[in-house]
Amino acid sequence: MPSMRSLRLINFVTILSLFLTAAPAPAPAPASNAEFIRANCEHTLHPKVCYQSLKPYANVVKKELYRLAKVSIGLSLTRNKFISSYVENLTRQAQPEPRAAEALSDCVSMLGIVERDMQNSVKQMQQLTGTGEELRYQLDNVLTWITAARTWQEDCTDGFEGVSNTALKADVFGRVEQAKNVTDIALDFVAALVDKAGPVLP
Ligand SMILES: *[C@@H]1O[C@H](CO)[C@@H](O)[C@H](O)[C@H]1NC(C)=O
Ligand SMILES: *[C@@H]1O[C@H](CO)[C@@H](O)[C@H](O)[C@H]1NC(C)=O
Repeated sequence: MPSMRSLRLINFVTILSLFLTAAPAPAPAPASNAEFIRANCEHTLHPKVCYQSLKPYANVVKKELYRLAKVSIGLSLTRNKFISSYVENLTRQAQPEPRAAEALSDCVSMLGIVERDMQNSVKQMQQLTGTGEELRYQLDNVLTWITAARTWQEDCTDGFEGVSNTALKADVFGRVEQAKNVTDIALDFVAALVDKAGPVLP
């Protein structure tokens, strides 16, 4: 026979569980890895580009914001390298306009700095440790590097102001825009991580 004392305990547990059931349900977890990407991309500057370019990594990201940030930084680095190589190739073609030649070579130098900043960001993201202030400091470094990188990308295209070769301009602008967009996205994700810095990262 259960004692009075254990009956009371059972009662207490029952009431407690009722109370817990009545508490508001936690936000539903995204249904799938891809859905997690889509939901987070909604909060970036370029939701469509974001989802299209990051969806292939859904199973690497596994619904973790810090992994999403890491992957997006890696993507920005890769995209930037490709575009840097493309613009460098353009500098090898004869440019009748001295201004165009100068803008192209300046842009290559700037994209070189972008590459260095993004490489530093990738390294730091691979070495995130600790919690709270310590983690916050590391994420702030990443934020600073990506912000600088994004500015250099803008400076690259600004350098083409006054260049009269419109076809060349459109070509460079279109290419660099791809790199700008993925860098914006990486910036948004790192900013989101900074916002929630505090929870322990695995
Ligand atoms: C960059 O993002 C803008 C705004 O989201 C979009 O209109 C544009 O098509 C994107 N360009 C590239 C090359 O991804
Ligand atoms: C730049 O030129 C090199 C050598 O011709 C080539 O291998 C590379 O693919 C080119 N880069 C781009 C992005 O087109």
